[in-house]
Amino acid sequence: MADILVISGHPDLSQSHTNRLILDRLQQALPDLQIRALDQLYPDYHIDVASEQAALRAAKVIVLQFPLYWYSVPALLKKWIDDVFTFNFAYGPEGDKLRGKALQLSFTVGGPAEAYTPLGYNHFPIAQLLQPLQQTAYLAGMAWQEPVYQHGMVYIPGIYNTLEQVQARAEQQADVLLQRLQQLTAA
Ligand SMILES: Cc1cc2nc3c(=O)[nH]c(=O)nc-3n(C[C@H](O)[C@H](O)[C@H](O)COP(=O)(O)O)c2cc1C
Repeated sequence: MADILVISGHPDLSQSHTNRLILDRLQQALPDLQIRALDQLYPDYHIDVASEQAALRAAKVIVLQFPLYWYSVPALLKKWIDDVFTFNFAYGPEGDKLRGKALQLSFTVGGPAEAYTPLGYNHFPIAQLLQPLQQTAYLAGMAWQEPVYQHGMVYIPGIYNTLEQVQARAEQQADVLLQRLQQLTAA
């Protein structure tokens, strides 16, 4: 599984109840897996573009693991994309360095599924909110994979969910993601 690269876009894994658990499960199941935790590598948000591009070049399957923030990726992960997906790397006449690599999104959603419906308080389906990321994959020639995610992942004691609930959902998500990674690397 050395050819799988996981980019963790959580801005502070020390405060995470779900993303950290998913990452830990992945690492336990696949000890060779390379996880790049952006909050630990870049606490100042200053991305080492050459290192990130080298890691991407070596991978066949790229996983973006993140919490959904304001219907998108956290700012740290957005900055990583902005800085790393450069001209003649991800796009442009020689921008074929990501071509053919699988892009697997795995993210945690605070709100319940019914919120992401036309009459719900978030109105739009998750798939629609992901379209900028999907198009980013297409422009870079990457193979977009059906995203893996769970709803109800926010834990605020006494208000939203219990720790046990969000942890159980995170374990389910890790299991689904592991199955997907096995399929992608067997193909
Ligand atoms: C800044 C911020 C923005 C958030 N935006 C959303 C959102 O747009 N939709 C949603 O369903 N949940 C949202 N949430 C809830 C997070 O998705 C949820 O807390 C996270 O997935 C839990 O992951 P963690 O336990 O790894 O921190 C937001 C939380 C924060 C802190």
